Amino acid sequence: MAKKKTAFICQNCGSQSPKWLGNCPNCNEWNTYVEEVLEANVDQDWMDEKNIKNSKSKPVPISDIVLNKEQRIKTNDQELDRVLGGGMVGGSLILIGGEPGIGKSTLMLQIALQLTSSNILYVSGEESEQQIKMRAQRIGRESSSLYILTETNLNVIFNQIKSLKPSILIIDSIQTMFTDKVEAASGSISQVRQCTSELMKFAKKTNTPVFLIGHITKDGSLAGPKILEHMVDTVIQFEGDRHLSYRILRTTKNRFGSTSELGIYEMQGNGLRQVSNPSEILISQREDELSGISIGVSLEGNRPLLIEIQSLVTPAAYGTPQRSSTGFDAKRLNMLLAVLEKRGGYRLGMQDVFLNIAGGLRIDDPAIDLAVAVSIISSLEDIPIPKKTCFTAEVGLGGEIRAVNRIESRIMEAEKLGFEQIYISKYNKKGLNISRINMEIKPYSRLDSVLSTILS
Ligand code: TYD
Ligand code: MG
Repeated sequence: MAKKKTAFICQNCGSQSPKWLGNCPNCNEWNTYVEEVLEANVDQDWMDEKNIKNSKSKPVPISDIVLNKEQRIKTNDQELDRVLGGGMVGGSLILIGGEPGIGKSTLMLQIALQLTSSNILYVSGEESEQQIKMRAQRIGRESSSLYILTETNLNVIFNQIKSLKPSILIIDSIQTMFTDKVEAASGSISQVRQCTSELMKFAKKTNTPVFLIGHITKDGSLAGPKILEHMVDTVIQFEGDRHLSYRILRTTKNRFGSTSELGIYEMQGNGLRQVSNPSEILISQREDELSGISIGVSLEGNRPLLIEIQSLVTPAAYGTPQRSSTGFDAKRLNMLLAVLEKRGGYRLGMQDVFLNIAGGLRIDDPAIDLAVAVSIISSLEDIPIPKKTCFTAEVGLGGEIRAVNRIESRIMEAEKLGFEQIYISKYNKKGLNISRINMEIKPYSRLDSVLSTILS
């Protein structure tokens, strides 16, 4: 028998080496190399023998390709449908990642229980039938079309699929699955890669949407190599602070839709509740005006969100001042502090600055810059910002206030939530259809003039 070819593979990033290494030169992790058998013939199809001779694939002029109307299968969950770009696409492979305990299994089970029109197979390699049944009871739903299979051997799973013919397949989780074609422990790079590729072939061949639940590593990326993210059609991250009840569904890759859509849920005693009006919960209820709090209007995908920004600026007690930011890019905070110092003349060099986005959200939209800057100075000077005022504009290095996209939908959302005044960039004012807006619009071009108007 020929000697099996093996290689050492980094379990963190997937890079290969002929000999064992203590420290991965690619991702710099320690002790991640594991010896795995490289199979030459693993890519054989699971259903039929491929024969090059009777292969029908041949090049086609792009003008001759007829577009089938893309069929979207609704999941009956508005948040997930939006994140997927309007529902599931037949034959797509969707990867859902997230920290342990965030609610991935709960979300998938809940969706599977809602879809009663056709057979769904939920394969669990992590929990027993009893545990899954208990969770279903907690969610409070029954379904006769949902089948549970507790199995980790992919070949057995495919065998069951042949007779059940599910219209949707859920795998919880891809790291627990293994196939006989690869001699490596489940969860290893070669197993994950091989199992994903077999599931992908199944999805494409039968036009079945397949959901894969994936674990994430301690640094927050999906466990298993990047290869996994390259193979699937859609990558969704389920995130949130475990101590808070809000959960956010975010796409980082989507072949069938935009990657900027957000889905928001609240974890309750009986499963996840869809939050259709997030702004209301993201803005904390308060009686009196406090300094350091401002409201920014951000846009996530097509959805305007009003975000509460809280700052605390206090004199640094010991030497180097601290800068801490939750939910907002720390580099961007430092940039705004520098702009405030240089262009606004505020002495922030010896102050500790703490910044927090309420509700455990992470915001990348630069349109909340102005709200962040205003909240910092409001805390520094201890002057509260009027309650019914909000902000949406980017701040440039020169202290200029820059225009943001889709200004009208932002203003509309703020108006809907009862705000009376909005600060925007002067350049956004042009072309704005004021007749539809009842709010007071405050157009500005300089950060210092906004600050002197609002905090005087
Ligand atoms: P789970 O869905 O198992 O998370 P994952 O699959 O991502 O590891 O766990 C969800 C957590 O949510 C768990 O700690 C229990 C809690 N939970 C609720 O608060 N309410 C519920 O209705 C359910 C089903 C779970
Ligand atoms: Mg789970």
